[in-house]
Amino acid sequence: MGQVSVTRRYRFCAAHRLHTDYLSPQENLAVFGKCNNPNGHGHNYVVLVTVGNRVQTEAGGGVDLGRLDQIVGEQVITRFDHCDLNQDPEFADRTTTGENLVMLIWDLLVPYLPDGQLEKVGLIETRDNYFEYAGATNQAPVFREGRHG
Ligand code: NI
Repeated sequence: MGQVSVTRRYRFCAAHRLHTDYLSPQENLAVFGKCNNPNGHGHNYVVLVTVGNRVQTEAGGGVDLGRLDQIVGEQVITRFDHCDLNQDPEFADRTTTGENLVMLIWDLLVPYLPDGQLEKVGLIETRDNYFEYAGATNQAPVFREGRHG
């Protein structure tokens, strides 16, 4: 039997700089290139949140998209829009890569959705860079270093 999912699209604009204190200035520049520019730079991020209807809502109709919009707005958009991602407490000791950001967004959303409903989070960072993460429900993601260009 088939499974229907629905994906909602959200947007926010944010600044960041790819840099880690675990590397020297020269190593940071070698790893992150122009994204290590001390002045930072910005992206128009697109967040794609995919939820399934395995779990019925109280209304019996699967996914409550109004509720999803509210949760994403409160937990993700308000938090990051027109902010410097490097100043976010969750990025105090990890780099603001797309990989880490998409995993953080999953982590921020999953506690507020019915168990098993969140299927995937996608993050478009640039024209050519798309990240996605499908973690285990209520399981914190493992963050990794990475780069983009
Ligand atoms: Ni960037």
